[in-house]
Amino acid sequence: MRTIDWVTDASGHGGDAGWIELIDQTALPGELRVLRIATVAELVAAIRSLAVRGAPALGVAGAFGVALAARQFAADPAGLAAAVHAIETARPTAVNLASGARRAAALLPRGPHAVLREAYAVRDEEIASSEAMAVRGAELVSELCGPRPRLLTHCNTGGLCTVTIGTALGVVGELHRRGALAGVIASETRPLLQGARLTAWELARWGVEFRVAVDSAGPFLMARGEVDAVILGADRICANGDVVNKIGTFAHALGARRAGLPFLVVAPESTVDPGTPGGSAVEIEDRGADEVTALSDAVNPAFDVTPHDLVTAIVTDRRVIRLDRGEKP
Ligand code: MRU
Repeated sequence: MRTIDWVTDASGHGGDAGWIELIDQTALPGELRVLRIATVAELVAAIRSLAVRGAPALGVAGAFGVALAARQFAADPAGLAAAVHAIETARPTAVNLASGARRAAALLPRGPHAVLREAYAVRDEEIASSEAMAVRGAELVSELCGPRPRLLTHCNTGGLCTVTIGTALGVVGELHRRGALAGVIASETRPLLQGARLTAWELARWGVEFRVAVDSAGPFLMARGEVDAVILGADRICANGDVVNKIGTFAHALGARRAGLPFLVVAPESTVDPGTPGGSAVEIEDRGADEVTALSDAVNPAFDVTPHDLVTAIVTDRRVIRLDRGEKP
């Protein structure tokens, strides 16, 4: 099952004309619902509402979105430019959304067919990256933690945030298949519960033994010796190694440092952003207060920055970057 894909019009009259299909992540875990997205406005709404979310999946959504735009605005250059801009900026923090859209948009002068081919390439590269990270990450976890470690993860980094198997959760799945995992603690990930709703749903489907913990329990569980390593994903990795990821990541990094545990970030090369020097240069998405409470005003930053000196290693599909040894992305 793919989280997001392009579906070609089965009538056969439209060449490779079609639409995007994606799993509606707002309906999980209660319902496995597939959304059919046929316009740029529908895609932007799906991205903003988090029906599709997670950095790599957003990159694919951005690229397929430009393929939609190329057809929808074929005779309207100003409308096309505005549509590409709307896709790129639908959410600000994950680098993949804008970079996926820009990659496909670079092919616009060659027509809709070329744009769709490029979007397929973005999709296929994300699938291949996930597979490479799963193996590379599983090997690093085994090397650092020994046999059958207990891992803690935050937010959702599974197939739902990529196209097939995920980033950090792909590593968890690989360790599980190898019989090299004792169990997982998944943080709830407030306020929208990507951990309790989505990670828990994926781990249960894979048959991985897991428990959900409230976000604030993570550092205490580490201090009490119930965790061997923290493993999670990223929305953007800066040139200095700062890791921008779901709010709560920084607190888990501090907990890991205090407990002397490896803090591992698993993300594709498409999430490494050499053009951003450090975390302070990244726009952190502020989401509505209503996601937190209807009773009082609230502040709701959706992501945070984990300083590079708290990160043990970054695992990508091509490299292991040992920040603890002074290496840089
Ligand atoms: O707001 P979201 O759900 O899009 O945030 C997603 C995350 O922060 C994930 O941890 C991140 O994209 C890593 S997925 C490789």
